[in-house]
Amino acid sequence: MTLKDVIYKDSIKFILSGGKGGVGKTSCAGAMAVLSAQQGYRTLVLSTDPAHSLSDSFDQNLAGGEVIPIQGVDNLWGMEISTEKGMAEFQSAMGGGAGGPEMQMASQFMGDVGGMAPPGSDEAMAFGKILEFIEDSSYDRVIFDTAPTGHTLKLLELPELLDSWLGKILTLRQRLSSMMSGLKSMFGGGGEEDQSWEMLQQTKEKIKAARIELADEEVTQFVVVMIPEAMAVFETQRLLASLHAWNIPANNIIINQLVPENPDCQFCHKRRQMQQSNMEDIRELYQDMDLTEVPLFNQEIRGIEGLTRLGKILIGEDK
Ligand SMILES: Nc1ncnc2c1ncn2[C@@H]1O[C@H](COP(=O)(O)OP(=O)(O)OP(=O)(O)O)[C@@H](O)[C@H]1O
Ligand SMILES: [Mg+2]
Repeated sequence: MTLKDVIYKDSIKFILSGGKGGVGKTSCAGAMAVLSAQQGYRTLVLSTDPAHSLSDSFDQNLAGGEVIPIQGVDNLWGMEISTEKGMAEFQSAMGGGAGGPEMQMASQFMGDVGGMAPPGSDEAMAFGKILEFIEDSSYDRVIFDTAPTGHTLKLLELPELLDSWLGKILTLRQRLSSMMSGLKSMFGGGGEEDQSWEMLQQTKEKIKAARIELADEEVTQFVVVMIPEAMAVFETQRLLASLHAWNIPANNIIINQLVPENPDCQFCHKRRQMQQSNMEDIRELYQDMDLTEVPLFNQEIRGIEGLTRLGKILIGEDK
């Protein structure tokens, strides 16, 4: 499946752009988002990288944790996830706000139980957004501009972690509830805590649904971005192994920043030789995947114009 097939396929709801630091993840996410919107899909491009650069890439302010329409392209919205805002929402979604007595006891108890602390906040929020947009039919498609590999791997292992974490809490709840009913009969009980438990149960169900959607290659595609250099190859290997382990479909690699032929420039010639030699290894390593080559531009990729230019190369309509 070429990148064009991915972007123009109706059933694809999530496209994630990921890879090593600085290789062009944000530019590629932006370019794919512009293509998707121009094709008529209501598209949201979402940055899960705490060091956001989506605003810089689109040359528009997309900060503040709200969905903002992107100027210059119909059907396109953008958002940089805000840590503070998202954390508060996530905590309340996890029932942290309600805090009935059972919840408080459970969290106190959990403090004593190793390995049951809730997962990291940036990733949790980003995942909270995935859950939100899985249910939200306002967009046909959400394109994720992810953080460099390590961070993104943490995000992707979250469904499993959260699932088992919530599972443990819910089991704990069962154990506590008989004790609590005794206490309630002594002090008089409210119904509020039941609501927060119900929310946890619902969150667990949502996570289960998300894991199914994220593993379905008709719905989700992780597009790996890399440059033709040895370090990037190693990191891509690790990334693909993890994606495979978590059943996240990945069939496309963008190889970015290829130095064009320039006989008058010794430096360019040397770099090109090095890259072309790595390209041979890359083609050999990733025979089963679709590879898209993108040249190094003579300027930064910025604004709708730059992203549109990159997009044309991604779908093979320009070289
Ligand atoms: N093919 C290219 N030609 C020229 N410049 C490029 C190309 N691809 C990316 N760039 C530039 O390289 C810089 C880094 O790109 P980008 O922000 O897309 O990478 P990233 O992988 O998202 O980085 P980070 O890991 O910091 O999030 C930007 O200034 C971008 O304009
Ligand atoms: Mg980036």
